[in-house]
Amino acid sequence: MQPSLKKVRITDLARWKRQGRKITMLTAYDATMAALLDRAGIDVLLVGDSLGMVVLGHETTIPVTLDAIVHHSAAVTRGASRALVIADMPFLTYQVSEEQALRNAARLMQEGGVHAVKLEGGRTVATVIRRLVETGIPVMGHLGLIPQSVHQLGGYGAVGKTDEEATRITEDAVRLQDAGAFGIVLESIPADLAGRISAKLTIPTIGIGAGPECDGQVLVSYDAFGLFDRFVPRFVKQYANLGEAIVKGARDYIQDVQDGAFPGEEHSIRPPLIAKERA
Ligand code: KIV
Repeated sequence: MQPSLKKVRITDLARWKRQGRKITMLTAYDATMAALLDRAGIDVLLVGDSLGMVVLGHETTIPVTLDAIVHHSAAVTRGASRALVIADMPFLTYQVSEEQALRNAARLMQEGGVHAVKLEGGRTVATVIRRLVETGIPVMGHLGLIPQSVHQLGGYGAVGKTDEEATRITEDAVRLQDAGAFGIVLESIPADLAGRISAKLTIPTIGIGAGPECDGQVLVSYDAFGLFDRFVPRFVKQYANLGEAIVKGARDYIQDVQDGAFPGEEHSIRPPLIAKERA
């Protein structure tokens, strides 16, 4: 069945949650990948700040700048035609003041062309989410493992395993919903906690390492398609091994060039006149 070409809106996500229709989301950082994922029928594309790790070679997402996300968002929105496109607000681009958050979110929408922004954190960012939403900027929250706080969390391990943490994450989820967030990413939390939060909220939850009871799922595309192998989290299912395919393709190319097998006649330009002169 051909996926519907009708553009995905944030109102569709809320409706799909009510209908029990799972929401699909993958990260994208360039126009070509965005067009491919869009053609496959993905609902949501996230220009994640995972960009810093899987594309730019940083150890964490912290060095990612607003300029970088704006640049890659513009590419993704040029490539996508149906998917809802959400951009991550990078580290410290929304915490300094509401004015800073508004100006930076505006750049993502005006220059990057995205339809919504995502930002990390619980109660401490509820006020800024409310302000963005009141201004007409759709916001997705992100709770559980929040990678921009990796140094404070002490690593990329699962969170929400104690009763205290679970209560805090649940309360935060309700606060983000009350502040007007249209959805929440739940990262690396126990599946039963994610299930309870999903049942409590009217807005959709999108899980990554948070079990099957979330209203949708997200993966980093470079993990899902085997392009990034520095480390692969346990919760990732690999749907393709493009990394291996590229290494094999590159080896074949190197061999062909060295053997003189490429370029062949079919890849060479020989204007008819010159060809005749040669004959
Ligand atoms: O940056 C990112 O790719 C993300 C996903 C892990 C949800 O935030």
